[in-house]
Amino acid sequence: MPSIESGALSPPPSPLILTQDELKKIAAYKAVESVQSGMVLGLGTGSTAKHAVDRIAELLHQGKLKNIIGIPTSKKTHQQAVSLGIPLSDLDSHPVVDLAIDGADEVDSNLNLVKGRGGSLLREKMIESACKKFIVIVDESKLVAHVGASGAMPVEVVPFCWKFTQNRLQSLFDYAGMCCEIEKDVGDLKTASDAILRLAGVVEHGMFLDMATTVIVAGELGITIKNK
Ligand code: 5RP
Repeated sequence: MPSIESGALSPPPSPLILTQDELKKIAAYKAVESVQSGMVLGLGTGSTAKHAVDRIAELLHQGKLKNIIGIPTSKKTHQQAVSLGIPLSDLDSHPVVDLAIDGADEVDSNLNLVKGRGGSLLREKMIESACKKFIVIVDESKLVAHVGASGAMPVEVVPFCWKFTQNRLQSLFDYAGMCCEIEKDVGDLKTASDAILRLAGVVEHGMFLDMATTVIVAGELGITIKNK
């Protein structure tokens, strides 16, 4: 069994092999160490963020955290937080978020992300662009050389004539992929990002550029913390 007990974290004793979910839990618990009483928290979405929300609720119920206000990044996280008794609010009432903790689908060495393959990127981007600190929690399988260079890029579009928008996006995604492969820097990702957002019918995309302040990576050899 992994060395995770009551939130205590320690590197796995070799040669123990941890599952991907156990690594996600280690990263999540480490991130929750940054939560302080009184904070307004962005509550992320996905199997990694779920561990963080569970841990926050556990600390609240133990009295080790007080006066936390959560802002969920999806309906699913909202339901989880309600079921765990975490007090909730929204950006209208709390436009400044102290800390958000969320997973990601891809993370590069500049802490750029691809998010949204779990289907909630718009709320995530709204909340995580309003936070003072954004901790991303991943297992090491999420590390990539260049975000957007491979795998699906989530894009939220309006339902009206969505196939038309999809066709127009296709050429832009070819362009975005080419930027990642050839230039590999944030400037070109931003160019690709801007081009996608200018397309009528697009609501938001899954490139989270220059937003994460910290990435916590859990791997077989322990935890790595990367700060911006
Ligand atoms: C949801 C997301 C998730 O954070 C991302 O898909 C990672 O999910 P998981 O922690 O389950 O691997 O962006 O839209």
